[in-house]
Amino acid sequence: MATTPVGYSPVVLRNVPLFSGLDDLELEKLSKVSGRKRVERGAFIVRSGESTDSLYFLLVGRAKVTNVDEEGREIILAWLGPGEFFGEMGLIDGSPRSANVVAAEACELLFLSKESFQRCLQDNFQVAQKLMKTLVMRLREADRKIESLALLDVYGRVARLLLDMSEIADGRRVIRKKMSKQDMAKMIGASREMVSKVMRDLELSGYICYEGDLLVIPGA
Ligand code: CMP
Repeated sequence: MATTPVGYSPVVLRNVPLFSGLDDLELEKLSKVSGRKRVERGAFIVRSGESTDSLYFLLVGRAKVTNVDEEGREIILAWLGPGEFFGEMGLIDGSPRSANVVAAEACELLFLSKESFQRCLQDNFQVAQKLMKTLVMRLREADRKIESLALLDVYGRVARLLLDMSEIADGRRVIRKKMSKQDMAKMIGASREMVSKVMRDLELSGYICYEGDLLVIPGA
């Protein structure tokens, strides 16, 4: 993993949502204690069970939060994109890392040491407030996932995932970002074969259709 000890400029830090409310002086202070890293696709940025030393911000690229069972089966807990942070859980409670964070594409990262992060939280209540909001949002998403796993069959889980991934464009509900059936399966606790079968059934029944790279959900 390529590491550069020199931090980013305060301008870059201002674009990180967690720091967007900080004044120039605070951003300057943070820029002096932050570091930067570049990682290639597939690299483990954080490994489950490791001890905790830093908080990371994703500036460029996408990463997935995963865990693996004893048989090597991977589950995807969440996807992270530009502006999002990770590694806060271990810093807050001192426990080992709760999950792996793996670069799904080449990523550019900013990191802060535990001490710098704690100082920043103590000095800036608004950062602590934003952090809490993000944690609540992640808890809500986790609750929703537990509910799906407990109450929905695989058809329901695939349908909910498709709706969650979709957006409205020109009055239609569509999915632009392509996700492999394997990744969909890892997100909803099903096999790739089952996800393929459900997607085929949804297409045959007219609930979804493809227009080139675009997946359209007509009646939603
Ligand atoms: P930490 O436990 O230090 O290391 C793994 C990180 O993955 C964790 O902190 C969080 O930042 C992140 N993480 C774990 N679970 C989730 C989740 N459900 N959604 C988003 N991020 C998560």
